[in-house]
Amino acid sequence: MVLITLEGIDGTGKSTLLSALEDSLSDLSPVFTREPGATWIGGQVRRAIAERADPLTEALLFAADHASHLSSIVRPALAEGRLVISDRYTDSRYAYQSATLEGIIPDPLGWLRAVHDGWTIPPDRTVLLVLPVAEALRRKAGAAVPEHFEEATLLERVQKNYLRFAEEEPSRFLIVDAGRPAHEVHSLVAAAIRDWHGSLRSRRQRP
Ligand code: TYD
Repeated sequence: MVLITLEGIDGTGKSTLLSALEDSLSDLSPVFTREPGATWIGGQVRRAIAERADPLTEALLFAADHASHLSSIVRPALAEGRLVISDRYTDSRYAYQSATLEGIIPDPLGWLRAVHDGWTIPPDRTVLLVLPVAEALRRKAGAAVPEHFEEATLLERVQKNYLRFAEEEPSRFLIVDAGRPAHEVHSLVAAAIRDWHGSLRSRRQRP
């Protein structure tokens, strides 16, 4: 019954954080999930990314992946009263695709929000990992073949978008300095999730 999302540009250490959270939060039995790729549509999304499909096709595939993710994983888990932790979610679309669709359609963010309107499930809380783009790219340098999203000017715009969303909804977002040592980032985020889970759950269980 509580939905928490993890967001940030590529290279901010989300994967490291997630594997630490899987251990430290195991007593809460969370459902760990991700976008893209939690369902079969994710395979099509990865293909679109690899083949550099046009940005509109890509955006619609990411949105289709979200619809499938909601119906097959997120909605059933929330209905069972579970804590759901998603590695990327709607804000990834709003942050990345509003940058990639710039100049292609008139109001990318407005369009993206309209595409999700009426069926998406808004996250209760969102952890935003923030790191200077140069440092994020340096961390990614060892990775195999960079995806086309992993490019400095695009990531600057994406990170700016994320920070704007956090400013618009300060009660939903927790901004975390991803430049801190990994164990500090982990203990801070784990404590925040425990806190949110406890307070949101008791609020929802009250008659
Ligand atoms: P992913 O494989 O999760 O990358 P990472 O491990 O860095 O999080 O996601 C692939 C890329 O897809 C990543 O650069 C972010 C991008 N992305 C979007 O552009 N829009 C979206 O809606 C989502 C979910 C991801």
